[in-house]
Amino acid sequence: MEGDKIDLSQQGLYATIDWVVNEEIKGFYQQALENAPPEFWKAPASSSGKYHGPENNIKGGLANVHTVKAVMAAFEFAEHEYSQMPAGKKNLMRDVCVVAAGCHDIKKGGEPWDRYDPEHGPLAAGWLCNFPLEDAAKEMIAEAVYYHMNRLHPDWERKKALHPKRHRHVLIVQYADIAASRKAASYLPGVPVSGGKIRAYSAADVRRARGMLWERES
Ligand SMILES: [Fe+2]
Ligand SMILES: [Fe+2]
Repeated sequence: MEGDKIDLSQQGLYATIDWVVNEEIKGFYQQALENAPPEFWKAPASSSGKYHGPENNIKGGLANVHTVKAVMAAFEFAEHEYSQMPAGKKNLMRDVCVVAAGCHDIKKGGEPWDRYDPEHGPLAAGWLCNFPLEDAAKEMIAEAVYYHMNRLHPDWERKKALHPKRHRHVLIVQYADIAASRKAASYLPGVPVSGGKIRAYSAADVRRARGMLWERES
């Protein structure tokens, strides 16, 4: 559509390509983002507004707020989880987690893009397999994307099929997604996180956050 082209150089998520060390994995990530549905770059993180904080639910919030947060969380969790590994292996696993987090909701609106598709994990995993990458890394990225919703999925059997030690990257992406979505926990609600007004949290801020943490989202 004329005038509707996405300028990828302006997209925060696109800039996370530079966080990937391995050149082959980086190329894979770049191809995936360059072929993402245009709706992915424009959608808010949640169609209902129920499960994400307000900052995630702005136009473009799915890719450039929620997914950027998920990438950051996945990066930090991987740094921690794989810290005892030799640098090469650690960097590889961190790349896997970053790319899986960056692509986990790339098909959130289904195919063709419409409303929320609860099977968007498996859908995105299958779609990602179209892009070239060596098998081991591709398989790990695809399985982390495939299973990213499992904790919220009624089919618990699929979760049980995952071995907790061999699939730490899957758990990292699940947790990164949770950290990047929680209305009450991504930062203390109501307190500025950027600009000239940043301040320490007050007791009132913490009490308000506690109220949100205990409130049932239904
Ligand atoms: Fe998702
Ligand atoms: Fe997500």
